Amino acid sequence: MLFLLLLLLAALIPGSDSEIEPVSYHVIRISTFHNHSWVHLASGWLGELQIHSWNISSGTFIFLYPWSRGNFSNRELMDLERFFRVHIIGVQEFFMDHLMSEYPGDQVDLQMATGCELHSGKGFISFPHVAIQGSDFMSFQNKTWSPSPKGGRKARKACKALNLRQGSTEREHRLLSVTCPRFALGLFDAGKAHLQQQVKPEAWLSSGPSPGPGHLLLVCHVSGFYPKPVWVMWIRGEKEQQGTQRGDILPNGDGTWHLQATLDVAAGEAAGLACRVKHSSLGGQDLVLYWGEKGLGPNWRWGVVVR
Ligand SMILES: *[C@@H]1O[C@H](CO)[C@@H](O)[C@H](O)[C@H]1NC(C)=O
Ligand SMILES: *[C@@H]1O[C@H](CO)[C@@H](O)[C@H](O)[C@H]1NC(C)=O
Ligand SMILES: *[C@@H]1O[C@H](CO)[C@@H](O)[C@H](O)[C@H]1NC(C)=O
Ligand SMILES: *[C@@H]1O[C@H](CO)[C@@H](O)[C@H](O)[C@H]1NC(C)=O
Repeated sequence: MLFLLLLLLAALIPGSDSEIEPVSYHVIRISTFHNHSWVHLASGWLGELQIHSWNISSGTFIFLYPWSRGNFSNRELMDLERFFRVHIIGVQEFFMDHLMSEYPGDQVDLQMATGCELHSGKGFISFPHVAIQGSDFMSFQNKTWSPSPKGGRKARKACKALNLRQGSTEREHRLLSVTCPRFALGLFDAGKAHLQQQVKPEAWLSSGPSPGPGHLLLVCHVSGFYPKPVWVMWIRGEKEQQGTQRGDILPNGDGTWHLQATLDVAAGEAAGLACRVKHSSLGGQDLVLYWGEKGLGPNWRWGVVVR
């Protein structure tokens, strides 16, 4: 367990090999059928960064950054937009024809993720996946749709019908194996300056809801950093507190990230604890915030940054 943890930390500590991320581009689509009508959402992602939205009323991309067109010409982008418009309608019609009767409830959620990932030396991997009602349904590989085990009979039926449409599986395959890697590489080049930027985290401490009588929940907030890999731990002296619970790293909406790391301690033992943050933007100078110094009252304590 400890060994695994160390491996995980090695992967998370900035500066390790994990910084060489594979180049990937993927589109996430969510189609919801409710009260006799469909609502579609789509977004395009370069790695972990959203760079495209989809304007459903015009059926066109919204480019979130000046470089979100990569090196594609307007003509090529319009071809892609046309493909998505046709695909959105196609998925909707396919679902109505083949699957609607299987979902008698009043709401159906379809989630689709499709795109490509380029690994140096290994070429590209494409990963179209479909989930229905939040559960894996089917995936596409080697020009063939395959049902997921969880998809059961419905997924086998859908795959069988889809695989009969050879023209459309060929088109999908070409888009994923030719267009997607070219688009992804062009975007990666165009967005290099953005992708390589370093934004320092801000950190502060607070106390969360008491976990029980005589106990405190110390919360270390770390926010506004880029890129995503970060390391956060509660420490006493140099000793890492294994009880640290790290939340998920969540998007802030402006391209930066935030997370919280909490520690449940007996009230008398909080003094001397500190939250330590390592991030590539800090140039090796960790942020360390001490609990309780310059306390502003029992429920809200600001830490002091010591470098
Ligand atoms: C369902 O849609 C109809 C029109 O399509 C609308 O009049 C009605 O208010 C909607 N009902 C709900 C519960 O949203
Ligand atoms: C979406 O398209 C509509 C119709 O072309 C346009 O009026 C609207 O401004 C677009 N929205 C965004 C956010 O680009
Ligand atoms: C893909 O399909 C072709 C022909 O059906 C087959 O020869 C090949 O081995 C398959 N490749 C993989 C990776 O499944
Ligand atoms: C765009 O950039 C990629 C990768 O650098 C390159 O392979 C491609 O030829 C360029 N041009 C177009 C139109 O895709």
